[in-house]
Amino acid sequence: MSADSGPDTSDTALARAIEARVSRRDVLKAALAGMAGALAPSALQAMPAGAGSTLGFAEIARGLDERHHLPPGYVAQVVLRWGDPLFADAPAFVPGHPDADAQEQQFGYDNDFLAFFPLPASGEASLRGLLCANHERCTAQLMWPGMTERSDRERMTAAHCAHEMASHGVSVVELRMEHGRWRTVLDSPYNRRITLRSTPIALSGPAAGHPRMRTAQDPEGRRVIGTLNNCAGGVTPWGTLLTCEENLHLYFSGEPEGHAEAAARKRYRVHGRGLYVWGRHFERFDLRRTPNEPNRFGWVVEIDPYAPRSTPVKRTALGRFKHEGATSAVSHDGRVAIYMGDDERFEYLYKFVTQARWQPQAPEANRDLLDRGTLYVARFDADARMHWLPLVYGEGPLTQANGFHSQADVVIEARRAADLLGATSMDRPEDVEAHPETGAVYVVLTNNNARTGAQINAANPRANNRWGHIIEIVPPRVNGAPDHTATECAWEFFLLAGDPSDALQSARYAGPVSATGWLACPDNVAFDPRGRIWIATDGQDHAAGFADSLYAADTSGPGRGITRLFFNAPRGAEVCGPCFAANGSTLFLAVQHPGDERGSDYARPSTRWPDFRSDLPPRPAVIAISREDGKEIGS
Ligand code: FEO
Ligand code: CA
Ligand code: CA
Ligand code: CA
Repeated sequence: MSADSGPDTSDTALARAIEARVSRRDVLKAALAGMAGALAPSALQAMPAGAGSTLGFAEIARGLDERHHLPPGYVAQVVLRWGDPLFADAPAFVPGHPDADAQEQQFGYDNDFLAFFPLPASGEASLRGLLCANHERCTAQLMWPGMTERSDRERMTAAHCAHEMASHGVSVVELRMEHGRWRTVLDSPYNRRITLRSTPIALSGPAAGHPRMRTAQDPEGRRVIGTLNNCAGGVTPWGTLLTCEENLHLYFSGEPEGHAEAAARKRYRVHGRGLYVWGRHFERFDLRRTPNEPNRFGWVVEIDPYAPRSTPVKRTALGRFKHEGATSAVSHDGRVAIYMGDDERFEYLYKFVTQARWQPQAPEANRDLLDRGTLYVARFDADARMHWLPLVYGEGPLTQANGFHSQADVVIEARRAADLLGATSMDRPEDVEAHPETGAVYVVLTNNNARTGAQINAANPRANNRWGHIIEIVPPRVNGAPDHTATECAWEFFLLAGDPSDALQSARYAGPVSATGWLACPDNVAFDPRGRIWIATDGQDHAAGFADSLYAADTSGPGRGITRLFFNAPRGAEVCGPCFAANGSTLFLAVQHPGDERGSDYARPSTRWPDFRSDLPPRPAVIAISREDGKEIGS
C-alpha cells in the first residue's frame, strides 16, 4: 500500500503540483515573480542571475580537471589525508602496501561527514577543537597496485581485507589554529580511531539483546565489533557525534536463501554478493556462517568525542536502514528530534523524537536520551501537508499478523514497517537538516533515475529524476518556537535541481540562477552562521564536464534558493561534510574518492590530488577553506 498519488505525468500536472508547493506564504513578491519566471523560462531573463543574494563571492566556472577550484580571495589548506598519522607514535604513510595495524593509527579512507567540537567544550568561536570525520568506504584499485578493477577481487588477500576494514570507521583528532593554519595535535589525549576491524560498540535500545542480533561471537547480542559505511551524521545538543551506517549490503558474501532472515535481508538488498570480499577471509561477513551479522549494521552510532575511552553505542531505537545522516533539532519543549534519510531509490524519510527533554544542566540525564522515544516515517500529501506516522509495535499494521512480535522487529525491519504504514517513496533521501534559526527542515533528495511516470507523487514529481530536489518542511510553531515533535507539518519545494535552460529537465529555482549556479545531485548540506545553506553534490555529470561541487544560497529574502557555485572538486571526487568553524571563517570540506572513475587506478590515476607526487596515489582529504583576509566565508 502506498500514499503515492496516481499516475499523472502531464506537464500541466507537474506545473500544478509544483506551483502549489513553491508559493510560500510569506515569500516576497519578487521571489514569486522569479518562480513564475521559472515556470515560463523566457521570463527568467528579466532579472539578473543571483540578484539580491547576500553571498559576496565571485562564482567560479563550471569545469572538471585534476585540481580543486575556489573563488578569488579564497584558499584551501589540506588538513588531513588518508594515511596521515593521528598519534605521535603512529607510523608514517607507506603507499602501496596493506598494513592494517598502521591504518588503525592513521586517518582512514574516504572522509565523509565532518563535525567540529570546540575545546574547551563550552567554547564557541573556537580556534581549537576536535574534528570528527567519517570514513565511509574504500577503493582498492586506488589504494594498491595491481587492483585494476573492482571485479578483480581475486587478488584481495586477508591483509588487504583487514586494511580495508581498518580504513572504515571514524577519526577524532584535535586541531589548533596557529598563525592562520590548522595544525593536527598528535599528542592530544582526545585523538582516536574507531574502526570496523577492532572497536567494540555497544548495542542499546529495543533491538539490543534480541535473538536476531545474536551471533556466535556475541551470544548476548549486545556488542558489535566496529561500524561500517559511515556516511553522514550529526551532532547532538549534548555534545556527542552521531555517525550513520549506510550501504550495509556491500559487505556480505555467501548465499542467504532459505534462512529465516532471507526475506528481511532482501528488503535491504543484502543478497550475499557484496562489493567487498571480506567474507572470504573473515567469517562474520559470510552469511552462511554468520547469518545475523547484517542485522547488527544499518544503525546510528553515538560517540562521545570528549571521552576518548568511552564505548560508542548503536542506538537501535532510531531504526535500521541505509542511514545517510542524523541531525538534531531541539523542539519548543526541550524534546529533541533526530531527522534521518534512508538513501536508496524509493526509500523513506524518518524522524525520531525523544521521550524525555534535553537537560542542558544535567549531562548525565542526556546520556541515554536516544534509547527512548518514537520513530516516525514521513508521508507527503498533495495538499501541501505532510504527516509523520509512528512506527510503534502493536499500533496499526505493526502486529504479529504482519510478523512483528516486538519493537525490536519494528526497528530491525524499519523499511517493511514503513511500507505497511503507507510512507511516501522518495528520490534517495540524503541529508535532512533543520535550519538553526527558522526550524524549517531541508530534505535533500539526490536523484532517482528509476522512477517512472507512473510512480511520481506530490513530493517526487519528476520521472527519471537525474537531478534531485530539496524539500522544505515547515513545522508548526508553539510559543514562537518550532515544534519538531509535531506529526503534521506544511511542506513545499525549495528547489528542483537541474539546468533551468533545458526545459526537458523541469528544473525550478525561486529566482534566476546563473549559467554556472544551477546544480544537480544535492547530497550534504550545512548552514553558515548567517543561516545560508551550503549544498554539496554527489554525481554531477562528469561526461558533460561538470565536477562535483559546493554551492551556497540564501534561505530567505530575495536571494532565497538562488544557488551560486563556490567550489569544484578534483575529478572523480565527491564533496562531503561541509562544516563551519571558527565563527564562520573556516569551512572544512571532505573531498571523497578523488580519481575514482572508470579506467583510473593506482598506476594511472586520473588525478594525484592533493599531493601531486608521482610516488603517491590520489588521497581522500579534509581541506580547510578560508578567506585570504581571514573574514567570514561567503560574506
Ligand atoms: Fe553515502 Fe548517501 O551517500
Ligand atoms: Ca559518499
Ligand atoms: Ca552522502
Ligand atoms: Ca551520495
